Amino acid sequence: MRHSNDPARHLDEQRVIEDHAQTAQKLTLYRGSVGVWGNILAQARLPMPVTDLFYIDTHCGAGRHGSREHPDEWVIGTPLIACHEARRLQRRYPRIKVHVRAVDRDRRWIAHLRQHVQPFLESNHERDRVDVQLFAEPFEKMLPELLAEATSHNAPSLWFIDPHGPKIPYSTVSLLQGPERGPEVIINLDMLGIWRVDAAARNRVDERFDWILLGDPAAQRCLNELFGGRQFWENIADRSLSFRDNMPKLAAAYAERFQRFQFRSHYPLRASHSQLRQIIHLCHSRIGREKFHDEYVRSQDFGVLAGRHLDQVTRAHAARRYWQSYRGEATSLDRLFGEGTQSFDRGQIRAISATADEERYARYDERQGMIHWFDERGVDPADEVYQPTLFNN
Ligand SMILES: C[S@@+](CC[C@H](N)C(=O)[O-])C[C@H]1O[C@@H](n2cnc3c(N)ncnc32)[C@H](O)[C@@H]1O
Repeated sequence: MRHSNDPARHLDEQRVIEDHAQTAQKLTLYRGSVGVWGNILAQARLPMPVTDLFYIDTHCGAGRHGSREHPDEWVIGTPLIACHEARRLQRRYPRIKVHVRAVDRDRRWIAHLRQHVQPFLESNHERDRVDVQLFAEPFEKMLPELLAEATSHNAPSLWFIDPHGPKIPYSTVSLLQGPERGPEVIINLDMLGIWRVDAAARNRVDERFDWILLGDPAAQRCLNELFGGRQFWENIADRSLSFRDNMPKLAAAYAERFQRFQFRSHYPLRASHSQLRQIIHLCHSRIGREKFHDEYVRSQDFGVLAGRHLDQVTRAHAARRYWQSYRGEATSLDRLFGEGTQSFDRGQIRAISATADEERYARYDERQGMIHWFDERGVDPADEVYQPTLFNN
């Protein structure tokens, strides 16, 4: 029985992802977009080729979400998705080094995450080691420092800003508009939170002076901070229309605050448990926008079998079955396809092999197309006790 309010566990660890379509879609979209972003930059023919990339997660959580369907009863959250993607890119592109930075102001979640990232810090394979650093700090404090770090490497950075509510000051987030060859930003914007605060901000209009807004000052301050000024939010919502009709207007008004990004898009996530969110995507390149859009479309389609694209849980079960058949052996992708012990096409077998690597059943060499199945499944880092001195922060 899962407890719904265990203070020692993050809300995401206690909830079951299968009951939260919106979170599931967020993770699918994040996974798809971090991979595509890294591939584009690693392959880009630029006068100064890219050597370093940064994945920066400003509200990282504890690294896991509960699951009913996954064989381990959990799936990984955004900071661990970034670590696996970093490792995959480093193996595939020998000149690329990927840095992962994850921030959460709550020390408890950073402590959980520290355990889960140990394999990335300690691996014997040089290209499997990832420069991961975790910070138990408010993102408002860390964003300028992390931006300066990425800029000092002249490195592109992909930022994911995923707060519970609308408390993300524009004065902080807008710093990401600065460097040209630099940040691309994904923001998970809490539209219902904004709508409620907007209602509170307006709820006391002085009838004698209808141009004077006497709403809740705290709510007004919250929106002023989010949008970077009253004039950018107060004439957007039309309270005679429904929330659903207003949601795209508010999301667009927010995205338009970041004029120095050439491409500013917003996409609704599936609604779940009275949560309504829009993903804001800010970038400088047309191809970046198109690829993100493709990943969004794909994320709308997740399910047990979304066309050719297997979801994470289906891949996890398939990886486990392959491991049970081939443990201790090295197999090529072609062999798995040819022997047909499971009826997947080559693309699907590739995706399952990546999951087998991620879930400690095998080491997948993407360049060679080989999977080295372990005799014994790798140990879950959360089951091991690490010395605090091993932590790098
Ligand atoms: C929605 S959860 C993150 C989930 C994670 N991105 C994932 O999908 O796996 C939001 C997290 O933001 C953290 N948080 C809230 N305010 C913050 C702030 N000002 N700075 C950094 N973290 C914050 C909370 O502690 C919480 O763990």
